[in-house]
Amino acid sequence: MIIEPVINGVVARTAHPLGCEQAVLQQINYVKQAKPITDGPKRVLIIGGSSGFGLAARTALTFGGAKADTISVSYERGPSDKGTGSAGYYNNLFFKKYAEQEGRIAVNIQGDAFSRQIKEEVVEAIETYFEGEVDLIIYSVASGVRPNPETGDLWRSAIKPIGQDVSGATILLENDHWLDTTITSATEAEAQDTIKVMGGEDWESWVDTLINSDSIAQGCKTIAFSYMGPEVTHPIYLDGTLGRAKIDLHQTSHSLNLKLACYDGGAYATVCKALVTKASVFIPGLSPYIISLYKVMKEQGTHEGCIEQMQRLFSSKLYGSAKVPVDCERLVRMDDWELDSATQQKVTQLMSSLNSDNFKQLADYAGYKQEFMQLNGFGFDNIDYTQPIDLKMFSEKDTE
Ligand code: NAI
Repeated sequence: MIIEPVINGVVARTAHPLGCEQAVLQQINYVKQAKPITDGPKRVLIIGGSSGFGLAARTALTFGGAKADTISVSYERGPSDKGTGSAGYYNNLFFKKYAEQEGRIAVNIQGDAFSRQIKEEVVEAIETYFEGEVDLIIYSVASGVRPNPETGDLWRSAIKPIGQDVSGATILLENDHWLDTTITSATEAEAQDTIKVMGGEDWESWVDTLINSDSIAQGCKTIAFSYMGPEVTHPIYLDGTLGRAKIDLHQTSHSLNLKLACYDGGAYATVCKALVTKASVFIPGLSPYIISLYKVMKEQGTHEGCIEQMQRLFSSKLYGSAKVPVDCERLVRMDDWELDSATQQKVTQLMSSLNSDNFKQLADYAGYKQEFMQLNGFGFDNIDYTQPIDLKMFSEKDTE
């Protein structure tokens, strides 16, 4: 079949395997020539490793100096009668191919990270492939739902402000339309459910599982990703439901830090830059900020994507020196360049001048859209998208 991009709103319904391979290769090529990670971890578990920050972390650690073996958990679907399969599925496949070519172990476990069963499968995989221990646990899940293990009901996250309605614009990637909207304030129940899905509880449950199964190596670290952003984004992010979940995640990092202290290890919430990923394009009201940020940071030469952020995190902050640099709340700050005051001054100014008529000219919507297309394997110059693809070639069940 010939695979064309199909987007509904901000969700991609198709993915191109060969483009996903290109995306994986681009990341590998970047880290191979970047500042290398020294004294890095050798056995890494990534929960949410098929796209965005998780995939970039996996790539940086395997190809960017540390030569890590990895086990990744993700929730993706392969090709079937119903569709092409998700980009993350192909990313897993190609990551494994290139990692194995360099003699590294790369295990892909596809299933629900929140479930007991997948946690047990991972413990078994750690026994089989890592001689029973991990040196680093990365928690990078972005999900809209989590099953309540006791009742089986779903907690659903609601990305909303708290205490007030907020007006903003969302840009529909489907038709490049700017949509002025008002996002209504969350109920307390919605805020609590969002904490259940995107807060620290499942991260803690992963680390507890690995402590209980004796799978933690001496010096083991764990990280999870957070976002704070500048004041203009606070009504929809930091002061909203997602921000509450992230504060819960920050608090979890402190309790996990105490638990891992017994192994001379540590736990860190790592605050990253706002970037285009499958998850972030879903946040209502955030796209005008991201296209303004891209424009300004690209002009200033400080723009980074997920892969640059992760390589810098591991080579300059988390490994290679005795102490991990943290701020006064014990957060690792990878949003330092984003929040630079000169950058933010320009971003705020640009954002305030954007509207439905001029956003494509004034801000970097082209860059935003291109990144989104490439996340799904489209928009690579060296791929002939008119050629049919036999999806059966990629349908092998790659669970390990
Ligand atoms: P993403 O959508 O690219 O990746 C999410 C990953 O979670 C994928 O590997 C997916 O398969 C996995 N996943 C989702 N549900 C799952 C489940 N039930 N079981 C197993 N795996 C599951 O998202 P992104 O943006 O990389 O997000 C990762 C983390 O980074 C999130 O905590 C997010 O809040 C945080 N972050 C994102 C920023 C951004 O601008 N994109 C900025 C700062 C932090």
